[in-house]
Amino acid sequence: MSGSLYVSFLGVDGIGKTTMATALAQTLEAAGLPVRQISWRGVLDAPAPAWPQDALQQLWLETFRLLYGGARSRGEWLSLPRDYREWRDGDWERRLEELPVEAARPSGPLAAALVELAGNLILADEMIRPALRQGEIVIQETFPFKHTLKEILIGRRLVSGNGEWEGVAKALETLVTDFFGSPPLRPDLGILVDGPVDLAYEWRMSQTGRLSVLEDYGAAGDRGMESFRALQEETARIFRSAARQWGWAVHRVDDSGLESNVRRGLDLILDQPQLRGIIGG
Ligand SMILES: Nc1ncnc2c1ncn2[C@@H]1O[C@H](COP(=O)(O)OP(=O)(O)OP(=O)(O)O)[C@@H](O)[C@H]1O
Ligand SMILES: [Mg+2]
Repeated sequence: MSGSLYVSFLGVDGIGKTTMATALAQTLEAAGLPVRQISWRGVLDAPAPAWPQDALQQLWLETFRLLYGGARSRGEWLSLPRDYREWRDGDWERRLEELPVEAARPSGPLAAALVELAGNLILADEMIRPALRQGEIVIQETFPFKHTLKEILIGRRLVSGNGEWEGVAKALETLVTDFFGSPPLRPDLGILVDGPVDLAYEWRMSQTGRLSVLEDYGAAGDRGMESFRALQEETARIFRSAARQWGWAVHRVDDSGLESNVRRGLDLILDQPQLRGIIGG
């Protein structure tokens, strides 16, 4: 199937990955190409067979349960649903955004990162690779290295000063960089959307007016703009280094406006050899 291609976007929260992925999908669809947008979140509640959906629901829930594992809120142990439907119907992801967290524990976020690997292995093997075998162009709006890395960084903040555990957090960072850089997980065309963290914050605030779970160090007990900036600057630094290592294209966004950024981004992406071959052929 010569037409298949796996395209994925990486970049800090709110920097415009979904915006670029949607523009690319529309452009390719308009050219008559078979496009599939695939994400772990998108599989959770779509009509799908029990395998892999049940596993993806359980693992999804567990990433949050572990992220907040052993934490307290207002002096009480945080008690989260054990059942995916209860989690979803109770809008727990939203509720966590507003819960003050104290006494967070480091092993939970680090374990959550390992659960991300399990879920993404299944997503790649059961959803992404089969679509590619059918000749489709798979677009993933966020390369899941992002979530995994942020869990490690939250865990690392919680072990700070404890040399033995800092070593484990560092080893996990190497592991996940190798994992997501391995061919079954690694996209054929990766695009890093890079730009000032403060712009991303501004855009997120005008979009939703709030920060979501995992957009700042909230799970480590530290919420807000400065916390967002600290977490995102650290991920941006690691993303740049990973993108270099993986040979990804870099789309730099600025404050010239949505349309001009999207146009420039599309020009860059459509000019990549992986896509030129498909569009031209
Ligand atoms: N170049 C731009 N100029 C102005 N606003 C932008 C630009 N790019 C994106 N935005 C706006 O910023 C907000 C966040 O964009 P988007 O959802 O695409 O980011 P994202 O990287 O996918 O975020 P997330 O990390 O949550 O998935 C949206 O409201 C979008 O319209
Ligand atoms: Mg997005």
